[in-house]
Amino acid sequence: MSNIINGKEVAKALREGLAARVVELEKIHGRTPNLVVILVGEDPGSVSYVTGKAKAATEIGIRNTTIRRPETITEEELLAIIAELNADADVDGILVQLPLPKHIDEQNVIAAILPEKDVDAFHPCNVGKMWLKQPTVLPCTPKGIIKLLKESGTELSGKNVVVVGRSNIVGQPVSKLLLNENATVTIAHSRTANLKEVTLRADILIVAIGKERFVTADMIKPGAVVIDVGVNRDSRNGKLCGDVDFEEAQHVASKITPVPGGVGPMTIACLMENTVECFERRIVK
Ligand code: GUN
Repeated sequence: MSNIINGKEVAKALREGLAARVVELEKIHGRTPNLVVILVGEDPGSVSYVTGKAKAATEIGIRNTTIRRPETITEEELLAIIAELNADADVDGILVQLPLPKHIDEQNVIAAILPEKDVDAFHPCNVGKMWLKQPTVLPCTPKGIIKLLKESGTELSGKNVVVVGRSNIVGQPVSKLLLNENATVTIAHSRTANLKEVTLRADILIVAIGKERFVTADMIKPGAVVIDVGVNRDSRNGKLCGDVDFEEAQHVASKITPVPGGVGPMTIACLMENTVECFERRIVK
């Protein structure tokens, strides 16, 4: 039996469930959720993410628009677009693809999005609510990781989880969600001393550091579950690869996510779920 956690399959099932939910929502409320994505510049990675998000939304029946603006847009101009979308009652979700050009303050832009339309769950209000365990949207990649672990039958309660990476988008929030599942969580990062000693204690190892082959097989406890959040270009062949040396690690781990086809599809599916949740929350208000 394969020990590969198939994120593509789990994400597909989630998207199918959402498509059915959208059909029901339209019957009840007479409209479907509406997502607006803002893409600044032409970074190939960002263009590809945004295209994937739009395709998933359309397949689910979520109305969606991508607003494309050149890299030269000013912060004021971007904030004006967001203000317009905030005021539009027919818009349920707003997503600004990151990173933004250096002359724009990302935190200002994120804070300008109405928290109830913040499908990324990056707004300080939503981040605060998540840490306080108050009802709110959850960040897509961490949410997708928890779903993948549960779908793969991995017990979380009482387990030693090591998260490598401390970003606002993945490392920190996934640690909190794991804590909510009663795991014992260690956050390691680029300055952690004796990293291998730390990772070898992990029953579940989550890697979000953004460096190809950063985690090698000798850093993994035999039988551990490995979740690879990395999206890198393999310097040997230019193909997409994660942060874990998959070829070697798959022989040590009891279960492991591949790149591509692991966490990535879950992030997009969870973004779609967040869009539907924002729609539902807004409509009952
Ligand atoms: N850039 C890389 N990941 C993400 C994400 O999850 N959301 C947004 N908005 N931008 C990103």
